[in-house]
Amino acid sequence: MPAITAVRGRLVYNSRGSPTIEVDITTDGTHTGRAAAPSGASVGIHETASFPEGGVAASLQVLSDNAGRITGADPGDVGAMNKVIREIDPEPGYPKMGGSLAFALSIAAAESAAKSAGKPLYRFLGEQEPLASALPSAPPARRYRFPFPLGNILGGGAHAGPGTPDIQEILICATGSDTVQDAIRTNLEVHSELRRILQESDPGFSGGKGDEGGWAPRLDNEKALQAAARACENLGFTLGREVSLGVDFASSTQWDASRSRYVYDRAGFENDAGEQIEFASDLISRFKLIYAEDAVHEEAFEDMAQIRARFPDVLVTGDDLTVTNAAILERAARGGSCNAAILKVNQAGGLYDALEFAAAGARNGIGLVTSHRSGESTESHISHIGIATGSKMLKVGVVGGERVAKLNELLRIAESRDGGDGDGTEHDLIQGMAEL
Ligand code: PGA
Ligand code: ZN
Repeated sequence: MPAITAVRGRLVYNSRGSPTIEVDITTDGTHTGRAAAPSGASVGIHETASFPEGGVAASLQVLSDNAGRITGADPGDVGAMNKVIREIDPEPGYPKMGGSLAFALSIAAAESAAKSAGKPLYRFLGEQEPLASALPSAPPARRYRFPFPLGNILGGGAHAGPGTPDIQEILICATGSDTVQDAIRTNLEVHSELRRILQESDPGFSGGKGDEGGWAPRLDNEKALQAAARACENLGFTLGREVSLGVDFASSTQWDASRSRYVYDRAGFENDAGEQIEFASDLISRFKLIYAEDAVHEEAFEDMAQIRARFPDVLVTGDDLTVTNAAILERAARGGSCNAAILKVNQAGGLYDALEFAAAGARNGIGLVTSHRSGESTESHISHIGIATGSKMLKVGVVGGERVAKLNELLRIAESRDGGDGDGTEHDLIQGMAEL
């Protein structure tokens, strides 16, 4: 059995320049895994809080107080690591250590265990319970596929300043690509053509970007979507065929619960619950969206179900709605609220919580979209998590070092002859792109 021989934590900064926690775990004195926790700007109310009172310093104190429990633990079993973490902080929501420490500890442990087992991280994770037995094809016959990269090409809302669209993200996905290399290249081409269009229509556009690398122009929702559609068409693509657009409405940002209205203050209108369903449905139809995230606010399960029923072929996706929480996802599935859900490990806290969520998704036929956060590290664990969990898409942005790191990791994984550990056995094969 592999055993943790050293653990160390430190304060580092994320892509927004905010402090976060990074953890190193060494297995058998040799194999070191490292993970730094990301953070969101549009955070769901049911998400796990990142830090306890006292911030990063308080989490680091918990880590050093408990280093003796962590050393000697088996990092090769995500469930066993979860038990160790739960001994330190048994309450739901990790109030003592903070979700960020649960994240960094569990992912650093998994990376060091995968290294010590000589396996790529995606394969190590794909063999872990409760995920492995919930997936349609359990090991050893498991076939891995590449999720489609989903890139934020134009940002507004909580990710960009005044004058930008109210909706948070316009996303591109190369739905017609047969290879991950082509899918990544296509997303980058559309992002680049969009800049040209934005500059052509507004010579004063400075090339400013939101937190995830999407352009942040002075445009309303409608004009922003039109520009994104034109970028695709200029490159010779037909929307819904070679490429498709998506939108993260991040509707909880607009929702004013005291007045029961969605306030689009940049565009200058308001929607009641019914008008919001029509507003989102109209954009989904006119721009042939393949992907619609949080089209209503985070507690509007029934309104989401109405959108889901209208668009059976669209990935009607929960993010703030489902917050990587297996119990909430079960509720959303029972009510038909979504057919897809975002997986962000730090929304839940630790890796084991996220594997439980992925298993619940697989059991309920909910497609997964593994996702970055707007405040990111330069690490690329989510590229592996996306493959391991059988995610349909990997939402990782388009440009910026912390976004490109995830895309480049997909390219490295694709490079190895069989995409696996090199022994050529059937279960190592990565067979093309996910089914959308
Ligand atoms: P966040 O945004 O990381 O700021 O929450 C990403 C998203 O809403 O998908
Ligand atoms: Zn979102």
